[in-house]
Amino acid sequence: MALHKGAGDDRRLSISPFMGAADPLGTMKLAPPLHRLGAGPVAADTAYQLIHDELMLDGNARLNLATFVTTSMEAQATRLMTECLDKNMIDKDEYPQTAELERRCVAILADLWHAPDPDSAVGCSTTGSSEACMLAGLALKRRWMRRNADRYSAGARPNLVMGGNVQVCWEKFCNFWEVEARTAPMEGERFHLDAEQAVALCDENTIGVVGVLGSTFDGSYEPIAEICAALDGFQQRTGLDIPVHVDGASGGMVAPFLDPELVWDFRLPRVASINSSGHKYGLVYPGVGWALWRDQEALPEELVFRVNYLGGEMPTFALNFSRPGAEVVAQYYVFLRLGRDGFRAVQGACREVATYLSGAIGRLGGFRLLTRGDQLPVFAFTTTDDVPFDVFDVSRRLRERGWQVPAYTFPPNRTDLSVLRVVCRNGFSQDLADLLLTDLTRIMPELRRQPGPLKELGIPARSGFHH
Ligand SMILES: Cc1ncc(COP(=O)(O)O)c(C=O)c1O
Repeated sequence: MALHKGAGDDRRLSISPFMGAADPLGTMKLAPPLHRLGAGPVAADTAYQLIHDELMLDGNARLNLATFVTTSMEAQATRLMTECLDKNMIDKDEYPQTAELERRCVAILADLWHAPDPDSAVGCSTTGSSEACMLAGLALKRRWMRRNADRYSAGARPNLVMGGNVQVCWEKFCNFWEVEARTAPMEGERFHLDAEQAVALCDENTIGVVGVLGSTFDGSYEPIAEICAALDGFQQRTGLDIPVHVDGASGGMVAPFLDPELVWDFRLPRVASINSSGHKYGLVYPGVGWALWRDQEALPEELVFRVNYLGGEMPTFALNFSRPGAEVVAQYYVFLRLGRDGFRAVQGACREVATYLSGAIGRLGGFRLLTRGDQLPVFAFTTTDDVPFDVFDVSRRLRERGWQVPAYTFPPNRTDLSVLRVVCRNGFSQDLADLLLTDLTRIMPELRRQPGPLKELGIPARSGFHH
C-alpha cells in the first residue's frame, strides 16, 4: 500500500464520444475520480478505455532492467492464471487441487534445495520473498525466545546479523518485530557479508544470520558455506548455536540449475530456512514467493494455524489470510513445463546475456564493472574517474529511449559509490541486449562532451528504483 494523501475532486473533462456509448454528435463530460468515488456508474467500455489510456504512461515492463520480477510468460501460463483469478489460496477446502499444486511446489523446492528428509521439510507459498522473510525471521525469533525465555522476559533484546546489502524487507522485519538489525557495513571492495564480519557481530542474543544468494545491489553470491563454517567454529568456542537463513530471493531459483556444485542450501546443517521469489527467477508474474524450513523443529508449532481441508485440517503459516491462487498454479506450470533441463537452459541464457553485456560495457571505456553477471545474471557498474558524467546521467539518457536502468548509491560505508545495475531476466534476449548496447554507444560521445555531471550543474540526480 502506497501512503497517499487525499484532496478535493471536482474535475469534469470532455471525453471523446468514441470512448463510450454517448451520441457521437453530443458532448460528454467525465473525469476519472482522483480522490472520491464518482456520483454514478460509468459504462464498462468507457471505464476500461480511460484506465487503459492512463496506463500507457507506465514504462514498458520488458525494458525495465531495474526489476528482478518476471515480465514475460507464455500465453498458456497467462491463460491458466486467468482461469484461476477467482481462486483464493486460503480456501483449501474449496480449491483442494490448487492446494495440492502448492504442496507439489513445496516438495519440488525441498528436493531442489536438498532438504535432508524431504518428507519432514515444511514450507508454504507467500506473496513474495518479503513475506517469506518475515515468516522465516519470526521462526528464528520464536526459537531464540524459547531458548532464552528467562533472559528475554528480563529485557534481553534479540538481534539479527546481516550485511548492509540486505534487501529492505530485512529492515522491515527488524522494525516490525522489534529485533535489533546488526548490519556489517560494506568496506572497500567488499560489497556483501563475509564470514569474519558475520561472526564478529554474533552474541547470545543473535536469533540468526541472514546470508543472501545473491545480493540485490550487485548480483553477487554471499559465501554461505564459509559463513556456516565460521559459525561452527563460533559454536565450538562459545557454545552458541546460531542458525542461518538463506535469502535466496533470486539465487534460490538460479544456483540449483547453474551452480549445482555450490553448497549453499540445506546440505549445510546450519541452514534452517530458505526463501525464494517465485516471481523473480521462478519465472512467474508477481506475486508469489516460497519459504521452506529444513524440518518441523525449525518452525515452531505455535506459529502454525490450521484451516479446513477435505474434511480435515491443513497447517498454514502466512501473514495474509486471503491471497490469489493463480500465481501458485503458474509456478507449478513453470516447474512442469521446464523441468531441470529447461530451467538450466532459461537461466543459462540469462547468464550468457548478462556476461556478454557486461563484457561489452566494460570494453566501451568510461565504465568500471563491479560484477560481471556470472553469479546472478545481474551486474553493477560505475563510471571511471576521468569522464565528465556520472551514473545518474547515463540512467537519464537511457530512459529517453525507454530503457529503465537504475542508478543508485551504495549503503554505508560505500555511500561514495554510485552504480548502474542491469538485471537480465527471461525475455531480455541477446538481441535486446545489443539494442541497449547500441543506444549506450550512441549517447557516449554526447556524455563525454558534457561540462560535468549534471548534478554538479545544479540539475538534481534521480536515484532509480532498485529493490
Ligand atoms: C535478496 C532479496 N530479498 C528479498 C527481496 C524482496 O522480494 P519480494 O519483492 O519478492 O518481496 C528481494 C527483492 O528484490 C531481494 O532481492
